[in-house]
Parts: sequence; C-alpha cells; structure tokens
Amino acid sequence: MGRTSGNCVSDEKFLFELPPADLKVAEKKFKERNPIWTGCKAKLIERYLFYFVQITYHGTYIDAFAGPQETDKHEMWSAKLVMESVPRWLKNFFLFELKESQVEHIRKMRASQPPPNKQKREPKRRIEIYHGDCNQKINQMLAENPIRDKEATFCLLDQRTFECDWASVMAVATHKKGGNKIELFYFFPEGWINRSVAALKIGKEKKLQKWWGNSGWPELMKKQGAVRGQYVCDRFKSELKYKHAYAFPIYEKKDEGGRVMYYMIHASDHDDAPGLMSRAYGKALDIKETGKQLEFLKDSSLKI
Ligand SMILES: C[S@@+](CC[C@H](N)C(=O)[O-])C[C@H]1O[C@@H](n2cnc3c(N)ncnc32)[C@H](O)[C@@H]1O
Repeated sequence: MGRTSGNCVSDEKFLFELPPADLKVAEKKFKERNPIWTGCKAKLIERYLFYFVQITYHGTYIDAFAGPQETDKHEMWSAKLVMESVPRWLKNFFLFELKESQVEHIRKMRASQPPPNKQKREPKRRIEIYHGDCNQKINQMLAENPIRDKEATFCLLDQRTFECDWASVMAVATHKKGGNKIELFYFFPEGWINRSVAALKIGKEKKLQKWWGNSGWPELMKKQGAVRGQYVCDRFKSELKYKHAYAFPIYEKKDEGGRVMYYMIHASDHDDAPGLMSRAYGKALDIKETGKQLEFLKDSSLKI
C-alpha cells in the first residue's frame, strides 16, 4: 500500500494491481510471469475487452488497421477475436482497412457472425467497414457517428511502423466532448524503429512529421528501449491529457532471442483500466475465468 504509480497517483484506490511504474521493472516482471509473444497479441486484446464488457455491459470497438496480419491464421486476428468474444455485449464496430484483399477478409468475417441472442442480452450489432486510408476516413467516421460521453469506447491503432498519423491519434483522443476519453491501444515499433528510420530516404522528414505529429522525432530517436517506451507514454499523458498511459511489452519468442519487439501503449482515463490490462496480460494465455471468479469486477469504478 502507499505505492505510487507511474502516473504519480496513489494506487490505494485502484481495484486491480497496476503495472510497475518503472517500465524496466515492468518488462522484467512481464517476461518472468507470462510474456505475451507477437503471435498472441490478439489474445491480450480480446481478454482485455472481455473484462471491459463485464464491467460496462456495452461498448464500441474502433480498429483503424483492422485486416488480419496473417491472412491464414485468423486465430491471431484481433478484430475477429474481439467480435467473437462472449458475452457479445460490444454493440458498435468501426473497422478501417486500406487494401481491398484485406477488406474482403473483414467482410467475410462480418458475414459469418451469428444473429444476436436476446436471452443472453446480446444487442443488435452495427459493424461498419471503412475501405481506405484510416488517416483520411477517421474524421468522417467520427463526424457521422459521434460517440456519446457515456459510451465506453476502445480504439486499436495497430500500425506496422509509421502508418498511423499523429493527427489520427489526436482525432480519436479529443473526440468525446465529456466523460472519459476513448481508450487507445497504440502500437509502437521499438524493435525495428531505428532500422526503419534509417531506411527512409525520399520524403523521410515529411513521413516522420506526419507520424510523430511534429518535428520532435529526432529527440525520440536519441532514446531507446524502456526509456523510449516511457517517453511515448508520457506524451499520451502530457499532450493528449490521458490520466493513465502504460507501455505493455510484446516479445519475440524465446528461441528467437526473446527481446521486446514492440510496445502496446494503453492510454485511458479509467482508474481501473491499467490494472485490468495488466490482469489481461497475465491471463491472456490461460483458460478464461468463470463468472464466479469475475464477481470482483462488479465493484469496479470502471463503470461509466
Ligand atoms: C499490422 S496489420 C493489422 C493486424 C491486425 N490488427 C491483427 O490483429 O491481425 C495492419 C493492417 O492495416 C492495413 N493498413 C495499412 N495502412 C493503412 C491505412 N493507412 N489505413 C487503413 N489500413 C491500413 C494493412 O493493409 C494491414 O491489413
């Protein structure tokens, strides 16, 4: 008790254990405990949203890079796992994808979903697919579908390297006029960012400015590892005003070296959200907990 979180808030009021404030310590702990490998990131996302709906009973899922990373391994596909997760209480899905062939996978997956089961309180779902560049379409989607202050909303920004403009991150983060901001789960390519920046030749400055949102990216490039991950988290708090931002390390497989490949940065205004993500991280690869084991969630202040 009395421990201080990375957000300089006493965690006595938090229902779930926060990740360690120091990212280096967090990395060690996650790696020893139950590391998430690149191939099971989707399971982490699915497990977190499983907890999320146990508390909110509703919600909206936005996925700005929604096509499957591995087209022949749909069991590793976040949008599919989230959509098929039970209870099916998430109501609205907004899925963006640039490539037609990837959009086709999404269409097929949408078509294969069963109708809502009223006895299980499943809502009629709205699943919208936006074919095109999410950086151009995200504002249109938000203008056409304003998210209510009380609507619990999670947005996955699962770029490969530099595809997500900072303007898109800002558009999502600043969309709600009141209540908690839309939660973000933002991909940061720690494992290969140095090589990717070095490989950029024509239009380098313009590309990195769009991605980072200003000319400050050389400062980011002076850092590395957990220090850089923490630096990115701090930006979500200072610039976008999220109450909490934590980096969750995703590792390469042990037999391939076991290093951190990337961070998933979780930014939220909910006091219980970081602890819940930490729990999801520890349990994503286990069998799901039973209703009885989840009783504790009922007390959560995550309720909106
Ligand atoms: C890393 S994959 C996403 C992986 C996915 N989240 C999963 O769980 O398997 C990135 C996807 O985003 C798409 N993409 C790339 N740039 C995009 C953009 N500007 N707008 C929308 N989609 C984009 C790619 O075609 C690819 O399908």
